[in-house]
Amino acid sequence: MNKLKIAVQKSGRLHDDSMKILKEIGISVDNGKDQLKASARNFPLEIFYLRNGDIPQYLRDGVVDAAIIGENVLVEKGDDISIIERLGFSKCKVSIAVPKSSNAKSLKDLDGKRIATSYPNTVNQFLDKDGIKANLHIINGSVEIAPNIGLADGICDIVSSGSTLFKNGLKEIEVLLKSEAVLATSPRISTENQTLIDKIQFRFQSVIKGRE
Ligand code: PRP
Ligand code: MG
Repeated sequence: MNKLKIAVQKSGRLHDDSMKILKEIGISVDNGKDQLKASARNFPLEIFYLRNGDIPQYLRDGVVDAAIIGENVLVEKGDDISIIERLGFSKCKVSIAVPKSSNAKSLKDLDGKRIATSYPNTVNQFLDKDGIKANLHIINGSVEIAPNIGLADGICDIVSSGSTLFKNGLKEIEVLLKSEAVLATSPRISTENQTLIDKIQFRFQSVIKGRE
């Protein structure tokens, strides 16, 4: 039987809320935690648990039809992927931060400086917009440590509660973008599966309306 394939973050900040909203739209799955794939009991749908950063490529290739993913990941790696619904949870910012003692007041003040980030494409978009250059140090995690160990003058990373910035003696100086979980679809989705995702999208809309 044909099934709609939806990617969900395997572990991390979006995982639990993604599973929760799927449950709210009536999709129930048997969840063996270490299983990478699960079938819904009551809808022709399979869930693929994937790493965040891999999801844009899976969408592009049509390996999955749709995904619940952070908008920030699409800005970084999937600006060719269409967002069909904003889901209203996992809200965060992608921001520039510097040590508390720094005089820098915005990204422009980091012209010619070093910025540590896991979001190089996003930072580059904004550097280009401002017509400035910076040296990017690309690291995958614990970005906030970089200024303290002398690796960078500033960082660009996700800010949610702000506690990681605070604990590392950093201050936010510019918000590059605001992000939340979104429903995105593959450019290669079949007509048959488009009909299924339309149904899912309609159910999401009802749940989101109900939450307001
Ligand atoms: C994420 C992100 C920030 C932090 C923001 O890191 O990279 O560091 O959360 O959240 P906060 O503002 O609520 O503190 P995560 O803990 O996922 O670890 P990682 O960067 O090592 O992947
Ligand atoms: Mg982090």
